[in-house]
Amino acid sequence: MLEQVQQLELVGLAELARAGDAAALEAWRIGYLGGSGKIKGLMGGLKDVPKEHKPAVGARLNALKVALEGAFEARKAALGGGGSGGAAAADSGPRIDMTEPGLVGGATEVGRRHILMRVREELVEVFARMGFEVAQGPELEDDEHNFVKLNIPANHPAREPSDNYYVDDPAKSPRPRMLRSQTSTVQVRVMEQAVKDGGGKLQKPIKIIAPGRVYRPDTVDATHSFMFHQIEGLYVDRGVTMADLKTTLLQFARASFGPEAELRLRPSFFPFTEPSAEMDIKIRLRPEEDPRWMELGGCGMVDPAVFTLCGIDPEEWTGFAFGFGIDRIAMGKYGIPDIRLMFENDLRFLRQV
Ligand code: DAH
Repeated sequence: MLEQVQQLELVGLAELARAGDAAALEAWRIGYLGGSGKIKGLMGGLKDVPKEHKPAVGARLNALKVALEGAFEARKAALGGGGSGGAAAADSGPRIDMTEPGLVGGATEVGRRHILMRVREELVEVFARMGFEVAQGPELEDDEHNFVKLNIPANHPAREPSDNYYVDDPAKSPRPRMLRSQTSTVQVRVMEQAVKDGGGKLQKPIKIIAPGRVYRPDTVDATHSFMFHQIEGLYVDRGVTMADLKTTLLQFARASFGPEAELRLRPSFFPFTEPSAEMDIKIRLRPEEDPRWMELGGCGMVDPAVFTLCGIDPEEWTGFAFGFGIDRIAMGKYGIPDIRLMFENDLRFLRQV
């Protein structure tokens, strides 16, 4: 008798597992748990069991009944509450609740943008509103785009091997590759491409910004890193003036840092702009502080020599360019005292902004 009970449990559970829809489930229920089902049948046989074994066999039968009822309910739930016909009858296989929180590692964590990417997106957004399109160039560059076509002469200190990550030996290679040290390379690439697209001649204005990584072998400290981020701007059109440059930068400063932001241009020198300037913005970094000047980067009117080197007629076209550090803006905006915090990927820091 005990063997029969055992057998019924094994076969019953196996059949239940195969019941794939509501109709099969109901048939199984009637066959096993119903009024004239298999369990009832076995219970009827209890009267033939010797008296002394009756309690044990009876208890075993009851346990079987409870186990099969439990298994039936579980199977019914897995099939989506089926078993009584209706819409669920057409379903087969287990249901998955997509809204349930994940099991692995507890509730699913929501990620966030890295602070630098956030600031970069904000900058792109502001310039996009003024009609600037995003352009990109490679981080592995050559000295032609990083220096030569930006009018930076061979003996210029910025080209020193100790100040750059050369991939090829500049003393041996005619066009050594290097990790770009500035995003100004993208100016050159965009102008070259525009001339190419125009069949050897610039046909229409250029208005781009180019955010990206740059590399310099600086000793790492609170304000320097061997890799940092710049955003470059270039506007080429007919009759562009320094007033356009200053207006654009002021609009940017006010859109990014509030309507009270001020802009200051200080005379400077860059080989690829003439005249050149350093730009500072006066902003209030934190409510309790007085506004102060923060250096942003360089800018100026595109040097005619650069136009000529890129195949653009400087008699016909004029332009302005600018480039500044994204990391510095992020540090100013969020009061971050050390640039290394942004690259160490410590979640305790990253979660704060
Ligand atoms: N590329 C310069 C640097 O890394 C910054 C710069 C200055 C960019 C003047 C410009 C510019 O476009 O016109 O120091």
